[in-house]
Amino acid sequence: MAAQINPSILSADFARLAEEAKAVEGADWLHVDVMDNHFVPNLTLGVPVVESLARATDTPLDCHLMIEDADRWAPQYVEAGAGSVTFHVEAAAAPVRLAREIRAKGARASMALRPATPIEPYEDLLPELDMLLIMTVEPGFGGQAFLDIMLPKIRRTRELINKHGLELWLQVDGGVSASTIERCAEAGADVFVAGSAVYGAADPAQAVRALRTQAEE
Ligand code: DX5
Ligand code: ZN
Repeated sequence: MAAQINPSILSADFARLAEEAKAVEGADWLHVDVMDNHFVPNLTLGVPVVESLARATDTPLDCHLMIEDADRWAPQYVEAGAGSVTFHVEAAAAPVRLAREIRAKGARASMALRPATPIEPYEDLLPELDMLLIMTVEPGFGGQAFLDIMLPKIRRTRELINKHGLELWLQVDGGVSASTIERCAEAGADVFVAGSAVYGAADPAQAVRALRTQAEE
């Protein structure tokens, strides 16, 4: 699969979300970080903002829920217009049931792992998912340094995906930039979230194209 670049709106100007979303049209998905100040020590946005963003851009929304009680809230993000909904396995009581519910409502179902959460206990769940997200920083904030120690986990996850012959996408999120994206791609990631590397650039749309080229080399 061609590399996909998903700019994270977390690094955009929240007072100009519609314009900032339009600034990266041409990206594969717009990554929307939902934080509840419980699962992570930061607070961002919720269902009403996702509904408005879905109307403001043609780019499909990739909602990354860093919130407790994911079982209760994730389906509402599908209804709000997200094309992909990622819940954290650490915050879901019934991840299989939740993934099935997200798919049944018509979105791609995705599950995220914090840096300290291993993939191995979840091998049997992989067929229930459309994407797996491996966090390459501790979730909560943009602009953090990429955690190199996650590369072996990315590699092992790619091996599991191949072993089971799955179509599952493998996303990385956190510290992805021109200086780290090649290592992620080489380890087996194919969907790349980039916040500060895109919105911190003078031309965000050009930054998306440059990252995609680098990931595909
Ligand atoms: C962090 C968020 C990321 C964040 C990435 O918890 O999940 O999506 O926006 O930002 P950068 O690319 O700046 O590390
Ligand atoms: Zn994210």
